[in-house]
Amino acid sequence: MNENAVCISDAFASKLRSYKNAYGAVIERALQNTVSLRTFAMLTLNINGKDQALDVPADMPLLWVLRDVAHLTGTKFGCGMAQCGACTVHVDGAPLRACVTPATAVAHGQKILTIEGLSTDGSHPVQRAWAELDVVQCGYCQSGQIMSAAALLAKIPQPTDSDIDQALSGNICRCGTYPRIRAAVKRAAEIG
Ligand code: FES
Ligand code: FES
Repeated sequence: MNENAVCISDAFASKLRSYKNAYGAVIERALQNTVSLRTFAMLTLNINGKDQALDVPADMPLLWVLRDVAHLTGTKFGCGMAQCGACTVHVDGAPLRACVTPATAVAHGQKILTIEGLSTDGSHPVQRAWAELDVVQCGYCQSGQIMSAAALLAKIPQPTDSDIDQALSGNICRCGTYPRIRAAVKRAAEIG
């Protein structure tokens, strides 16, 4: 044990290990006493209209809080470097890359909206347009695409091709569904 060592219960250690994916390495270092457990914090996040008190590492990215702690797995991990858009959520109505946003940065009353909160029954115009035009191929990128499209339409109800291309340029689709995405954004503008 090093000089920063702290004592924790087996139950707490087990809870730490339950945080997985990219955060696993950090948790393992913490358990080896190389990261102070004082970095943990209780945050209150407003997610999909509800305040949730969550006990998380203070520097945990929002994406992992959403997926591993709040169990909202509709938001996807793609690159972890703000390069693909798979992790796009809304914060106070604006699209944001959850993979590079510390949860602490959005724990001050900001309204976080995930794909699960866009509508409870798939009735949001973007979701209806996506279904009507059968946009999805493998689907992995699509919650991020939909969140970016919804943010665009909230800001610009009748977007041009240029508006669409600009707003969704950071959302990568490995399946190449871009033509259907653009058509669906236009259809959502008609429906909405
Ligand atoms: S996972 Fe966040 S932008 Fe790729
Ligand atoms: S639908 Fe497969 S990555 Fe976009």
